Parts: sequence; C-alpha cells; structure tokens
Amino acid sequence: MTKDKENSSQVESNIRSAAVVGAGQMGAGIAQVLAQNGIATQLYDQSADALQRANALIRKLLDRQIEKEKISPADKEATLSHLSDAADLSDLAQADIVIEAIIERPDAKHELFSKLDEICKPQTILASNTSSISITKIAAATNRPEKVIGLHFMNPVPVMELVEIIRGLQTSDETYAISKALTQEIGKTPVTARFDYPGFIVNRILVPMINEAFFVLMEGIATPEEIDAAMKLGTNQPMGPLQLADFVGLDTCLAICQIFHNEIGEDKYRPCPLLIKYVEAGWYGRKAGRGVYTYEE
Ligand code: CAA
Ligand code: NAD
Repeated sequence: MTKDKENSSQVESNIRSAAVVGAGQMGAGIAQVLAQNGIATQLYDQSADALQRANALIRKLLDRQIEKEKISPADKEATLSHLSDAADLSDLAQADIVIEAIIERPDAKHELFSKLDEICKPQTILASNTSSISITKIAAATNRPEKVIGLHFMNPVPVMELVEIIRGLQTSDETYAISKALTQEIGKTPVTARFDYPGFIVNRILVPMINEAFFVLMEGIATPEEIDAAMKLGTNQPMGPLQLADFVGLDTCLAICQIFHNEIGEDKYRPCPLLIKYVEAGWYGRKAGRGVYTYEE
C-alpha cells in the first residue's frame, strides 16, 4: 500500500467532463460527488427506471444538505446544472473519464468496456468501481489497457472518504496520476492497492467478515439483531455485518465471495449457503426491500 495522503502529488487531473455508467446506489453517489465538484457529469443506465430513481435520490440528498445548512439552494442548482442523463452509451464519447458502476459480473463488465473502448475518444480514461473483479482482465477487453484503472468508491459515496485505487498490470503512470489527482480534487482520500488481487484491500478484509456473520446466523449461534448488536457494541462498527450486507446488497456480497472462492481458490472463501439462499430468493437487501431484514421504503 502506498501512503497516498502523505505523498499527495501536485498533478492536476484536468478532468472537466465525466460519465458514470450504472445508476444504482454507487453510480448515483459517484455522479453526485463529481457534479458537486463542478465536473460536467453524464449518467447512463440500461434501465430508465434506475436513472429516474438515481435523479430522485440525488435531489433528495441535496435537499437534506440544504435543510442541514451544509449547502445553499444555489449550490444545489449548480450541482444539478452539472448533471445530465445520457440516453445512449454513444452519448459518452467525449467524456474525459468514464466510471463504470454496473452489476458485479465479469462478463457484463468486459462487454461494457469493449463497447466503451470503441465509443470513447482515444484519451478517455476508463475506470471501474468493481468491488473484486480483476482490473487487468477488464483492461484486456479494450484496446487501451494502459488507460484502464480501478477507482473503488465506498458506500455511501457522498459520505465515505476513501477511494481505493487499483492499478491493473497494464495501467500507465499517467492514467494513475490523473485518476489519483481526480479523487483528491473531489475531496476523497486515495489509497492504492499495489497488486490487482481479488477484493484489493477493503473487501478482501471486510467481505469474509460479512460471510462469516452469515455462517454464525446459519449455525443458530445468534439472531441477526444479536449478531449486529454484538459487533456494533463490541467492535465499534457503525453498522453490524448483517446490516452492512443489506446496505451493500446481498447480490453484490455473494458475487464478491464467489470471485474470492473461484480466483483465490481457498475453502475459507466458500460463500455461506444461507447467503446463497437469500440471493436465490431475490432478497438482495435494502435496495430490494428485503434482505436479512425487511425495509418499509
Ligand atoms: N447516501 C448519502 N448520504 C447518506 C446516506 C446515503 N445512503 N446515508 C446516510 N447519509 C449521510 C447523512 O445524510 C448524514 O450526513 P450529514 O453528516 O452531512 O448530516 C450522515 O450520512 C450520517 O447519517 P445518519 O446520521 O443518518 O446515520 P448514521 O450516523 O447511522 O450513518 C452511515 C450512516 C454513514 C451509512 C453509517 O452507518 C456508516 O458509516 N455505515 C458503514 C458504511 C460502510 O462501512 N461503508 C462501506 C461499505 S463496503 C463498500 O462500500 C465496498 C464494497 O465494494 C462493498
Ligand atoms: P446496483 O444494483 O445498485 O446498481 C447497478 C446498476 O447497474 C443498476 O441500475 C442496473 O440497471 C445497471 N446495469 C447493470 N448492467 C448494466 C449495463 N450493462 N449497462 C448499464 N447499466 C447496467 O449496484 P451497486 O451497489 O451500485 O454496485 C455497482 C458496482 O459498484 C458493482 O460493481 C459493485 O460491486 C460496486 N460497489 C458496490 C458497493 C456497494 O456497497 N453496493 C460499494 C463499492 C463498489
């Protein structure tokens, strides 16, 4: 790990325009933060409903910031003036950087990056917000592997300070320097994973804990509420691991466990059968209204 904060470079990213592909919980947050920092940002999703929900969520969060007097109504309007929806991937051709935040499936990401490579101008940096998938492999799906990088934002994006940066084997120093400068310009603190191994730094440590919490639940050692209370009160985490799993999305947690199990190949990464069952049932967590817990909204 490099000490990015201490060695913070003076490089400017010169990124003026960005696009975010995937308008789920992560994509919406990334687009909001970029736009709040004055970067003209296009948001695209294959689902019109997702795009609509993302816009509504961004407006709601900006209104909440106004209520708390953290921003003014003029700030909200300025942010919204930097945000636009894209009707088609081809509309993203002129973006200086595209940040992908679609479903955590290698085939879907490879296909998307191959399309973006054809569509975008040659200088465009193509970044992935993947939680666990190989940046090196995503880069290899393009003809500009040196311009592909991992920018792993944390959920909820407007609140969490970290962006993990992952260099694929092919990522150039220039792409890295520009991307790192961008994270700093939008108020985040970058930490770099030196090797592109599954889960990088945060999820390699966090997701096995979440998976283990499902084993503790499945084995009947404690109820969900007791597991979460024990971890919150006993280790000072803001959310218990099962609450956090619902917050992240059980589909995403399972996808990450499967990548670990398949690619690192050790039994300790075996996804908990109960987690698999919940995902099979469509209980994806907070975004689906039901996961380990049920949600009203
Ligand atoms: N989107 C945007 N902002 C949000 C938000 C959301 N979904 N949820 C809460 N916030 C904001 C609130 O508006 C509030 O902002 P202000 O301080 O400006 O008023 C602030 O967060 C605190 O919110 P609350 O007081 O309502 O609630 P809280 O104190 O319980 O904090 C939390 C909520 C920040 C989500 C906190 O519970 C927390 O930090 N949880 C753990 C989050 C975490 O671990 N994230 C990493 C997940 S792993 C990951 O992202 C990687 C991966 O690949 C899976
Ligand atoms: P999500 O399910 O909330 O949203 C995914 C969005 O991508 C959906 O709106 C879907 O319609 C869209 N989508 C799927 N395939 C697409 C395609 N081919 N083209 C365009 N849009 C497409 O998921 P999320 O939680 O926002 O996660 C997105 C990415 O971010 C994943 O790679 C995930 O691993 C990563 N991530 C998630 C978290 C988290 O806590 N949820 C944190 C960090 C990183």
